[in-house]
Amino acid sequence: MDHTLTIGDTRFFVRTEGEGSPLLLVHGFPLDHHMWDAVIPQLAAKHLVIAPDLRGFGKSEGHVEIAPMELLADDLASLLNALEVTAPITFCGLSMGGYIGWQMWRRHSDRLARLIQLDTRAAADSEVQARARGVNAEHVLANGMSEVPQAMLPKLLSEKTIENQPQVADSLRDIILRQDPRAAAAAQRGMAQRPDVTNWLPEISLPTLVLCGSDDGISPPAEMQAFTGKIPGAQFLEIPNAGHMVPMEDPNATVKAILEFSSRAN
Ligand code: MLT
Repeated sequence: MDHTLTIGDTRFFVRTEGEGSPLLLVHGFPLDHHMWDAVIPQLAAKHLVIAPDLRGFGKSEGHVEIAPMELLADDLASLLNALEVTAPITFCGLSMGGYIGWQMWRRHSDRLARLIQLDTRAAADSEVQARARGVNAEHVLANGMSEVPQAMLPKLLSEKTIENQPQVADSLRDIILRQDPRAAAAAQRGMAQRPDVTNWLPEISLPTLVLCGSDDGISPPAEMQAFTGKIPGAQFLEIPNAGHMVPMEDPNATVKAILEFSSRAN
């Protein structure tokens, strides 16, 4: 079911499907809820799946100059209130969605039952990375999204996916091209100023699953495995032959991992 929810003076789009314990799917950059299309039907057989478009992305409004991860987490808490979801949720975020996940834990831990972090980082940007985001933000504001897929696709997908599943590359390209440059610029600036959360990890007492594509060059397996080791009891799983976009590149493995984790007793 598709919802348009008004929070303050901003309209947000959220897709919900299924019944059961709530599972919030938070997309990466510069994307929208469609990145979860291949996994939603199977996940919705067991869960109330909630897949929003973050502020400014997809069909959501609310453009800002900088979109800090804290603001995006607060938006999600407001959306859960508007949907009248009171049961603790399983938060599942990919990459930028994962950066928001850390903030969700910090700011709204009462809403969380479990945490699933896909292809994401705990470290902040280096100075060079943060500066490059500023340049990219200006570039998309001046030139639009048309050059973004060519620059990003080889980083987001494994070579094997590009070769063997061209339809996945096509879908990802379409999603990127549909995004509003103002949202992309705001998120770049927000990600550039996000904190290093490594010191928070030992305090996370939620059951936590960390998933990583074996060929992910943006958040590589070794880095993800290292931060998983700092979260008490967290499980790390590597998905072979996938890059940064595991739910699109290997939806079956993603669904299996999420459902096994979510059905386990705490
Ligand atoms: C994402 O997939 O959300 C981005 O790769 C995150 C980032 O740019 O750090």
